[in-house]
Amino acid sequence: MAPPREPVSAIILAAGMGTRMNSRRIKLLHEVAGRPMISHVMDCALALRPRQLITVIGHQADAVRDALDGVPTDFVLQKHQRGTGHAVIKAVAGLKLRSRGQLLILNGDLPTLRPATLRSLLSRHRRSGAALTVLTARLPDAAGYGRIIRGEHGGIQGIVEDRDATSEQRRIREINVGIYCANPARLLPALSKIRPNNAQREYYLTDAVHRLIRMNEKVVAVCHNDTEEVLGVNSRAELAQATRTVYGRKNEALQRAGVTILDPDRTWVDPRAKIGKDTVLYPDVLLEGFVVLGEGCTVRSGTRIADSRLGGSVTVKDHSVITDSQIGDNVQIGPFAHLRPGTRLDKGVKVGNFVEVKKARLHDGVKASHLSYLGDADIGENSNIGAGTITCNYDGVDKHQTTLGKNVFIGSDSQLVAPVKLGDGAYVGAGSTITKDVPAGALAVGRGRQFNKLGWVKKNADKKKSGSKGGATTSKK
Ligand code: UD1
Ligand code: MG
Repeated sequence: MAPPREPVSAIILAAGMGTRMNSRRIKLLHEVAGRPMISHVMDCALALRPRQLITVIGHQADAVRDALDGVPTDFVLQKHQRGTGHAVIKAVAGLKLRSRGQLLILNGDLPTLRPATLRSLLSRHRRSGAALTVLTARLPDAAGYGRIIRGEHGGIQGIVEDRDATSEQRRIREINVGIYCANPARLLPALSKIRPNNAQREYYLTDAVHRLIRMNEKVVAVCHNDTEEVLGVNSRAELAQATRTVYGRKNEALQRAGVTILDPDRTWVDPRAKIGKDTVLYPDVLLEGFVVLGEGCTVRSGTRIADSRLGGSVTVKDHSVITDSQIGDNVQIGPFAHLRPGTRLDKGVKVGNFVEVKKARLHDGVKASHLSYLGDADIGENSNIGAGTITCNYDGVDKHQTTLGKNVFIGSDSQLVAPVKLGDGAYVGAGSTITKDVPAGALAVGRGRQFNKLGWVKKNADKKKSGSKGGATTSKK
């Protein structure tokens, strides 16, 4: 029988720069599926509900701390990056459970790692009674990675870094992925014996393997079959690959849950998004952050939706942008609509092409079908906003509110100069500039009066004709 479960602590190594990215920014802050690479690793570690999570930071420590604001982790500063072994020694100084429990150690550059993999590593570690369990993978091209040295009987003997390996060792295909499980009390004595006798003059965590073996401690290497999951990101190409993996997994999960994705290679859905059954996503749709889509929605190509909640049976036509908005059931949006933060569209609203909405609520059944700007507004039920209507909400200093009652009709090409209120059922004639409140049921017309000069066209033409004969008319003047 396996020994009982023990509390888990986790260390994430995030102090290195990651020079192969060729960037001014630390590698772990580069984004995978819209979030820093390290956030994915943290989510994975936190899914195991560890007693304590320690993140080792060094390069651009403040930026990493800011990016992880709100994440339940302790930070340990590794001022000088003397290697992964040195980083773990620093982290252990802040570790609460040092004499018991299981300790996970993770490189920070593993954005596609899954909690299930860590759970099975923990259980293998517990059952084998090892002091250290190392996760490995077999790659067709192992260049750049630490190689796993196995002995006659197949057990792990040590890890040799690429730069320190002999040409024979470089032919080994089994690599160290940078995921470890240890009993802290047994790992610590080995860590303190590590010396920087290598090509990089660093304290390698990987040296703990042969140190432990020399101390007659048991070390186990577990080979993981899904190589895509455990490949660290070291370059921009690997960053793109990791992004594809994360989005690809989400698409598969959505498909299983009844979402139609016409071309999964061209659809990017944040792993945190929730989408109802029978919703259809066309190619080139991007859903960022916390997005919720109800059932039976259709989202057409070129649309980006970020941090918004949409009800059921919503249609978003091509090339629309929706951010921080709340959309009710049966709403129609776009094509080319721009719904900015604070937009709220209630049931059955229609917002058509080239309509921009910001901080505005459109109540049930409102229609704004063409070419409008509606900002800082509250528009009552079933009102109709004509083409080209603009709420003039900004006077150069402050923003002002426009309030419309129910069933208001705004004629095309009108400006509503805020602050202004229009009562229930009010009408605004096309081309009006409305600067005063309009009472309920009233018609407001605020435009220059039209006058017609009868016969003007012919008279004007005759005048021109006589003027051009001989050209004397002008010279006489
Ligand atoms: C490391 C392993 C190698 C393994 C590979 C997997 C060592 C010595 N080598 O090599 O066996 O195949 O990962 O990707 O561990 N870090 C610190 N402080 C430091 C140095 C690094 O926190 O002083 C962090 C980095 O931010 C990174 C992780 O440790 O998250 C690994 O560092 P990296 O430089 O990527 O190590 P590799 O050379 O890739
Ligand atoms: Mg690496």
